[in-house]
Amino acid sequence: MAEAVLALSRLVKSFGALKVTDDVTLDLREGEVHALIGPNGAGKSTLIHEIAGGVRPDSGTIHFCGRDIGALDTAARAKLGLARSFQVSSLLPEFSALRNVMLAVQARQGSSFRFGRPVMRDASLIEPAMAMLEKVGLEDRAVIPAAELSHGERRKLEIAMAMGLHPRAFLLDEPMAGMGPEGSKSLTHFLDGLREEAPILLVEHDMDAVFALADRISVLFYGRIIASGPPHEIRKDPEVQRAYLGERA
Ligand SMILES: Nc1ncnc2c1ncn2[C@@H]1O[C@H](COP(=O)(O)OP(=O)(O)OP(=O)(O)O)[C@@H](O)[C@H]1O
Ligand SMILES: [Mg+2]
Repeated sequence: MAEAVLALSRLVKSFGALKVTDDVTLDLREGEVHALIGPNGAGKSTLIHEIAGGVRPDSGTIHFCGRDIGALDTAARAKLGLARSFQVSSLLPEFSALRNVMLAVQARQGSSFRFGRPVMRDASLIEPAMAMLEKVGLEDRAVIPAAELSHGERRKLEIAMAMGLHPRAFLLDEPMAGMGPEGSKSLTHFLDGLREEAPILLVEHDMDAVFALADRISVLFYGRIIASGPPHEIRKDPEVQRAYLGERA
C-alpha cells in the first residue's frame, strides 16, 4: 500500500449543537485521487477547512508528511506543501492570470498582500508564477484578466495559485462547480494528470468526474464517514445509495 501523505484520525468538530465532523478517520496516499462525496451540508468543506487550518477540530489528529500539523496555522500548513483551492473563488477578477499567481506566490513566501508594492516588476515572483501557469497550460493566457478567462481556465488558474511551493497534497473543493459537460471533461483530464504532481483529496458533486478520477471514495453523511472504498464498491453500497447516490439519480 502506498504511503499516507495525509492522515486524519478521529476528528470531531461541532458548531454549537451541530456535529459537522463526527469521528472522521481517513487518509490520502501518494499518487491517488481520494474523492469525498456527500449531500449538501454533510460537512465536506468544513473537513477541508480543518485540514487546511482555517477551522480547529475539537479533537482528533491530522498528520501531514509524517508530522502532526494540528498546532500549525493555515500559512504554515501551506508552506509544508498543503495546497488548496476554494469552493468560492479566491481570484481577483480584474487582475491578470499572471498577477493572480504572483500574489499567491508572494503570500506563500511569507509576506502579506501589499497592493502598493510594484509586484509586476519582481522577477522572483514572475518566474515561479509563469512556471505554474505553464504547468496548468495557461502560459498563453498570462496577461488576460481573470474575469475574462473561461470557467475551466479559472479553475486551472486557482490550481496554479494553489501549487505554490512544491505541493505534497491538493485539497480541491468542488472544482467542477458551475461547469458545462465539455468543461468538466477537460478539467477531469487535467486533474487526472495533476495527481502525478501530488495526490488529490477531491470534494465533488459531479459524479461523472468522481467515478472517472477516484481511486477511493469516502462518503460523508451528517459528519460521519458511512462508507469508504474503491468506486465499484461505493457504487453498489446500499447505504450510500439510500443516503446519497439514489437521491441524485
Ligand atoms: N462557521 C460555521 N458556523 C456554524 N455552522 C457552520 C459553519 N460552517 C459550516 N456550518 C454548518 O456545518 C454544516 C456543514 O457545512 P459544510 O459547508 O461543511 O457542508 P458541505 O458538505 O461542504 O456542503 P455543500 O455540498 O453544500 O458545499 C452545515 O450545516 C453548515 O451550515
Ligand atoms: Mg462545501
